[in-house]
Amino acid sequence: MARKPRETFGSRMGMLLAMAGSAIGLGNIWRFPYTLGKNGGAAFLLIYVIMLLFICLPVMISEYLIGRRGGSNPFRTFDRLAPGSRWRWMGFIAVLASACILSFYCVVGGWSVKYLDDACSGRLMGYEGDYAQFFGSFISSPWKPLAYTLLFLGMTGLIIAFGVRKGIERMSKIMISVLFVIIVLVVIRSLSLPGAVEGVRYMFVPDFSKVTADTCIAAMGQAFFSLSIGCGTILTYASYVHKDENIAASSAWIAFFDTAFAVIAGLAIIPAVYAIALMNGTDPDVSAGPGLVFITLPGVFQSMPLGGVAAVLFFLALLLAAITSAISLMEVVVAFIIEELHRSRMRAVLLSFVLCGGVGVFCSLSFGPLEGFRLFGLSVFDFFDYITSNIMLPVGGLLLAIFAGWRLRRANYLDELTNGGSLKLPRWLALTIYYLVKLVAPLAISLIFLNCILS
Ligand code: PHE
Repeated sequence: MARKPRETFGSRMGMLLAMAGSAIGLGNIWRFPYTLGKNGGAAFLLIYVIMLLFICLPVMISEYLIGRRGGSNPFRTFDRLAPGSRWRWMGFIAVLASACILSFYCVVGGWSVKYLDDACSGRLMGYEGDYAQFFGSFISSPWKPLAYTLLFLGMTGLIIAFGVRKGIERMSKIMISVLFVIIVLVVIRSLSLPGAVEGVRYMFVPDFSKVTADTCIAAMGQAFFSLSIGCGTILTYASYVHKDENIAASSAWIAFFDTAFAVIAGLAIIPAVYAIALMNGTDPDVSAGPGLVFITLPGVFQSMPLGGVAAVLFFLALLLAAITSAISLMEVVVAFIIEELHRSRMRAVLLSFVLCGGVGVFCSLSFGPLEGFRLFGLSVFDFFDYITSNIMLPVGGLLLAIFAGWRLRRANYLDELTNGGSLKLPRWLALTIYYLVKLVAPLAISLIFLNCILS
């Protein structure tokens, strides 16, 4: 059967920014600073970077390579590269994983819409009570967070409906550029507060006493989540990439951007939290967990000069980052529906909206009316967050590494990596990447899992 011509990204810059947009998201701004705070600051950062270089980057390169070679959605890509094997079900699970992530991601995305709305209208800075109460009463109310969740998902769907170039690429380009400018402005404001240097010291002076077996799994889970690997998003975006793209270089750029952005987001938040705590004579609470951004930070903005402007900019940045990632997640599901169920893009978007929105409703309600309902001892939201980040993504990464290292032929892997030999990638580097994927990554991921199960 003749293949339908597929859309591709229009330019190298557009492709890089779309992939960076997928990687840079709530994981960087919302998750990274509090995970860093909980796990010993710079000590965590060090472990994170090691994981990134030796496990995640090679896996990312492989996911990219598999995606470009297969040129389709995850299900069909695995079927093309290993015809008739069970690997295509791995592709299907990747589609499911993306849908599961999007289902809880859109809830937090909805919160950022709400906070931006409140920051713009002055309700956030004008609030006189405790922000824990502000946040708690919002997320536990039955309707409001639902409406924001669906609004966020609707905006995501609308962008995707315009297609790869006009929707995804164009919006990612604009949003990521604006995002960088905003976050730099917020960093300047945060670092110029008296006492901010204490927060910087906290981020960059390691405290190894807080490092445990769990730190490694937290660092690995965070790296997989933050780089968007293991669930078919990079694979799907890679299927829209030209054959002459340098896979290793692009992946390294995206990983670098993503990590730099996480550190910058940390610099926007942690020094400000320290400075304001110092001013108020309280303890800086940078390990406040998920509440850091939604509870601690509004209090910080409220106490600092120009805080109202900083709050608007910050929550706008959070929303932009969340949307560009949500787009990449929804596109995995949409590409699958278009190519496997033969629906138009518009219908595929609607179907994904209904599917992810349906599960998202339960995730959102698990902070309110469904609070008592547990799945394996966790609320619906925590369940989806936990199984996707800590299990599905690393297992997805493990399987990708096994597929790339053991199922694809070495010659094919190297051929794809060097674009049929036309790229001047040193042979030692290509071989190092290959063996990191074939041996080091699967072993390291398995050991980290084992360590966690046994401890
Ligand atoms: N990388 C995104 C973030 O940091 C989340 C994400 C995970 C997106 C997996 C796509 C796939 O927020």
